[in-house]
Amino acid sequence: MEHGGQARPVRVIALMNQKGGVGKTTTTVNLAAAIAAAGRDTLVIDLAPQAHTTLHLGQTAGPTDDSGTVYDILLDEGVDPAACVRPVDSRLHMMPSETDLAAAETELTGNPTRHGRLAGALHRLGGAHEFVLIDCPPSLGLLTMNALAAADEVLIPMQAHFLALQGVGKLLETVGPGRQELNPHLTVAGVVLCMHDNQVTHAREVVADLEPFFENERGTGRAWSDARVYHPPIRRNIKLAECPSFGQTIMQYAPWAPGASDYQKLAQTVIAEWDLAIGRQPQPAPAAAASAAAAPAPEAPPTATPTVAPSPEPASAPSGTEGDQALPNLPNQSEPGQSEPGRSEHDLSDAEIHVLRGRLPAAPTSPAPADTQGRA
Ligand SMILES: Nc1ncnc2c1ncn2[C@@H]1O[C@H](COP(=O)(O)OP(=O)(O)OP(=O)(O)O)[C@@H](O)[C@H]1O
Ligand SMILES: [Mg+2]
Repeated sequence: MEHGGQARPVRVIALMNQKGGVGKTTTTVNLAAAIAAAGRDTLVIDLAPQAHTTLHLGQTAGPTDDSGTVYDILLDEGVDPAACVRPVDSRLHMMPSETDLAAAETELTGNPTRHGRLAGALHRLGGAHEFVLIDCPPSLGLLTMNALAAADEVLIPMQAHFLALQGVGKLLETVGPGRQELNPHLTVAGVVLCMHDNQVTHAREVVADLEPFFENERGTGRAWSDARVYHPPIRRNIKLAECPSFGQTIMQYAPWAPGASDYQKLAQTVIAEWDLAIGRQPQPAPAAAASAAAAPAPEAPPTATPTVAPSPEPASAPSGTEGDQALPNLPNQSEPGQSEPGRSEHDLSDAEIHVLRGRLPAAPTSPAPADTQGRA
């Protein structure tokens, strides 16, 4: 996508899943930080009224003397979006949220341009940022519709268990009509597996179901016909759950942790496919990012104290499974006995898996018409 008439291509990604607590905010923040650390200008937009992304990035929720919020952008098309962007790091910027955002839906009821407000703001912002990551709330209302209208791609953070996969099926069905009504350019980039535990039998089975599902969709012209399961999965890592309380990304809080390594590798994948798409030669990562990625894993905990009150409970992090679980090709970080290959709370019976498979959208019998329109 080109913005504001400028030639610089911009990759706008909405991180979306109507299921709560699947890792949308964690992935938005840490993937964006890793992309920025790799030397790419990145903007994070917090579209969730809880403002967790804003707090995670160490920012004040709500307007400050220096900046407005995404609420201002949605409510008033005349607001300068640049006045709602805050610097986080040299290459990382963010547009904060506020709790008033929850009222935007009611306040804009019946307004014919209500779904295109964010898209308009990004266009006016121009190509200042090469990557724009939009964190969506766990619902499909006005806020998420603004993200769908503004984005080029949808990235779906999910956990590899039954309810999450059922949610992906519904979500994919939602992106289809969303594309027709709001944004014919929109595609589903794929799925990022969060809080992943490859030693749980059912997690492996869900991955084994997802990959052929997307393969079968190739060439159908559907929004998700080029979607993929992104690698690597993000392992469950307690450091990722701790760092929001310190207002820090995982790269700041524990750059040696498996969570930092996973998001850095995911960022490399996201950057590499983008460079390929726009025909740019692969660029070496800056020395700082490269050395952080290669850093050893000392055991020393950070000395920072929390800057925001920690959430009482991770929304969907089961207790007692917070160790870093092993994946194929990655070092085994798990404690002995932490995750048994047998049935766990995430495991399903064969009958349940059968039901699940039936809930994924069926591959079409005849190809849907391919997009004929793109956005300027
Ligand atoms: N890989 C991980 N390892 C451990 N904890 C994680 C991991 N990813 C996310 N969490 C924790 O799980 C909880 C839910 O994650 P997060 O807030 O990112 O989900 P969400 O999809 O944005 O939720 P919501 O739908 O409420 O906005 C948080 O407490 C977060 O710190
Ligand atoms: Mg969130």
